[in-house]
Amino acid sequence: MNQRKSQAQKRILRSTNPPRAKRKGGPHSGGVDAPGILDSRVLPDEELGQHWEAIILDSGIKDRLLAQAIINFTVRPRVNPQQVPLHGLIVLHGPPGTGKTSLARGLASRTADTVGGIGEFLYLEIDPHALTSAALGRSQRAVRDLLDSTIAERADAGPVIVLLDEVETLAADRSKLSLEANPIDVHRATDAVLAQLDQLASRFPHLLFIATSNFTKAVDDAFLSRADLVERIDLPGPDACREIMLAVIKSLSEVFPRVGRITSHEDFERAAKRSHGLDGRRIRKVVLSACTFDKQTALDPNRLTAPDLLRAVDLARRELELREGQ
Ligand SMILES: Nc1ncnc2c1ncn2[C@@H]1O[C@H](COP(=O)(O)OP(=O)(O)O)[C@@H](O)[C@H]1O
Ligand SMILES: [Mg+2]
Repeated sequence: MNQRKSQAQKRILRSTNPPRAKRKGGPHSGGVDAPGILDSRVLPDEELGQHWEAIILDSGIKDRLLAQAIINFTVRPRVNPQQVPLHGLIVLHGPPGTGKTSLARGLASRTADTVGGIGEFLYLEIDPHALTSAALGRSQRAVRDLLDSTIAERADAGPVIVLLDEVETLAADRSKLSLEANPIDVHRATDAVLAQLDQLASRFPHLLFIATSNFTKAVDDAFLSRADLVERIDLPGPDACREIMLAVIKSLSEVFPRVGRITSHEDFERAAKRSHGLDGRRIRKVVLSACTFDKQTALDPNRLTAPDLLRAVDLARRELELREGQ
């Protein structure tokens, strides 16, 4: 398919896709309903913006991510790519439960919020499994349609940010399937997908891919080497652990006001300290687990105590140690 569209073709494309501005935000507000697309939204999006706010990191990682994403839309379209190579790819990697998916979604919304004057942003979330199953020949056409039509057409019409969540599934699926009948084809097919993603990014300077991975070692080196920024998102540090816990308690106390009092108990500080080593997802869950030691507290979380919280943290730590010892 010829990707260089005439102005007339672009007008037709826009007219068949109602102007993004007229649509309401929220899930599927982008109106792209195609195989392999999990979600499409008009950006900025309130819900995605909240993901950004919810993630608490120790250092200037958020600023760096946002700056890199902004550069993609402000600098990349205007400079010579031979001299200033920017590929339109940001990779977030690190242990599970550290906020990568939330950050990626939030970053998309924040970027659209910050960059003005280049048209309305569209957010697309791709299911990487769809890419591999399609690449394996079950539906080669679907993957071509997804990349060459769905994404290319949208990127031709305006700025687009694409989330490739858990991108290692592309590579992991490949190694798993290598054991089966036709390993060379499998490798070729997945390589082709990665090459196509790369090519798309180079053709459309207003297209940005944000990829996340829980296992960086499983991600194709060729893919990683093209990234403009590879950012490791680690387990939260001691201050962040405490802040995450406080954020959950604050949110709970909006409904159950007496929960807030536990933060002035010395066991709260102990619990916060001992939560260091747990991931952000676990720390958020641990506050609710603390309500499960007693049926009465489950019925009325106002009864939650700081020693309950400490006990829940210790249990979570023990469970983690057991898992790590396996
Ligand atoms: N650093 C953090 N600060 C606040 N919440 C966090 C943090 N890390 C993880 N979480 C919470 O854990 C949950 C899972 O986050 P997610 O983005 O899916 O992580 P990942 O993609 O790294 O597995 C979310 O509810 C998120 O708010
Ligand atoms: Mg994730």
